[in-house]
Amino acid sequence: MNKCTIVLGSQWGDEGKGKVIDYLTEKADAVVRYQGGHNAGHTLVIDGETTALSLIPSGILREDVECFIANGVVISIPVLLKEIKMLEDKSVAVRDRLRVSAACPIILPSHIALDQAREKALGKAAIGTTGRGIGPAYEDKIARRGLRLIDLTRPEHFKTRVTKLIEYHNFMLGKFYKVDAVSLETTMAETQDLADQILPLLCDVTQRLHELREAGKTILFEAAQGTLLDIDHGTYPFVTSSNTIAGAVTAGSGVGPCYIDAVVGVTKAYTTRVGGGPMPTQLDDAVGKHLAEKGKEFGTVTGRPRRCGWFDVAAMRRSVQVNSLTALCITKLDILDGLDEIKMCIGYELNGKRLEVPPIDSEQYEHCKPIYESVPGWKDITYGITQWDDLPAAAQHYLEVIAKHLKTPITLLSTGPERQQMVEL
Ligand code: GDP
Ligand code: IMO
Ligand code: MG
Repeated sequence: MNKCTIVLGSQWGDEGKGKVIDYLTEKADAVVRYQGGHNAGHTLVIDGETTALSLIPSGILREDVECFIANGVVISIPVLLKEIKMLEDKSVAVRDRLRVSAACPIILPSHIALDQAREKALGKAAIGTTGRGIGPAYEDKIARRGLRLIDLTRPEHFKTRVTKLIEYHNFMLGKFYKVDAVSLETTMAETQDLADQILPLLCDVTQRLHELREAGKTILFEAAQGTLLDIDHGTYPFVTSSNTIAGAVTAGSGVGPCYIDAVVGVTKAYTTRVGGGPMPTQLDDAVGKHLAEKGKEFGTVTGRPRRCGWFDVAAMRRSVQVNSLTALCITKLDILDGLDEIKMCIGYELNGKRLEVPPIDSEQYEHCKPIYESVPGWKDITYGITQWDDLPAAAQHYLEVIAKHLKTPITLLSTGPERQQMVEL
């Protein structure tokens, strides 16, 4: 495996990044989360046992692997502690394996209140956020008024700054959104009062990553969300508040672009999206129902139903471009088993013109009509297959067509949720 590999979502999230990271970690020395927060939900299934992670890297179940939450991740301290406890209850030695950057911004209860108040105020135009305070926490980081984990080491300074920030948040909550204020007491209970449990995990993650890199160790960078939810390159404003593309690794972990050797785009064999915003290939018919039911397309942490549709080559072209994808990992191939015909969107039609990639404007994207190419489906079962030669010819053909359209090789293929249900190509 390459020394420094980014594994990211190339669609609208939930592509199966958690499973892929867990699989690849067998050959890795370290796994790093570098953006997003607990809006993520990454699922690992090992010998029938499911583990859902939202903040801790998906390499955590492997012994002797160092896991890092780098500076680009926004942290809810109670959520992180809960996740640590959940893993400790499964006898995972989390505190030995996990280190967290002292520079991570802290999500406060008032960020959550603001996120939810804004969504409510947007009414029908709501983004469909996870309501976890992610956007407001990133806003405060950029506005240079946020608190970081390192601030917990100076309680007086923390209290002064947090008091000012809460005052500002409560002004917006009360005067603008006309909802309840958040108390300083609650805020302290969810931050400074928990400091003793968090401080031992803090370190200079960037420095440690460079030590590992210089020692020739193998590092995996685990993204959250997906490329089309990127704040700059996604379907704005129906996006998350961080950069989700490969370039985010450099800012979010302090490992520069020339140290990256490979970028793997994890991609479902079809498309899903949760929350609002354009999705040209969405299906509200029997096939959409097949994908949703067979694919169990409900949010890992939120339980929300995901919108489902055909594979979107045009959207993926953007993903190949902005991430410099060196390889694709196609997941959930097994969900397509049993379909007579499989379609993929190879471009869009907008006002009589053909587009090869999504338009910048989401409003225009809403009006794009997919141009479909059709390939034969297969009746055989691909679930659990681990060898390329065992796949039905029609499934091989479908994958070859995708790789050809995207001019990117498929190097991994997932045929089930379990760790070992994987084909290496
Ligand atoms: P992530 O956010 O990208 O890590 O993806 P999620 O964990 O939110 O959603 C992916 C879901 O699909 C999880 O329930 C996985 O267990 C499941 N999954 C992953 N790969 C496969 C696969 O190849 N086949 C099937 N049937 N399920 C899969
Ligand atoms: P993983 O890592 C799918 C979506 C939300 C919403 C938008 C903004 O599991 O793939 P936010 O709470 O981030 O401000 O919400 O982004 N979203 C995700 N969709 N998978 C995710 O993470 C997501 N994280 C956020 O549904 O549309
Ligand atoms: Mg998910």
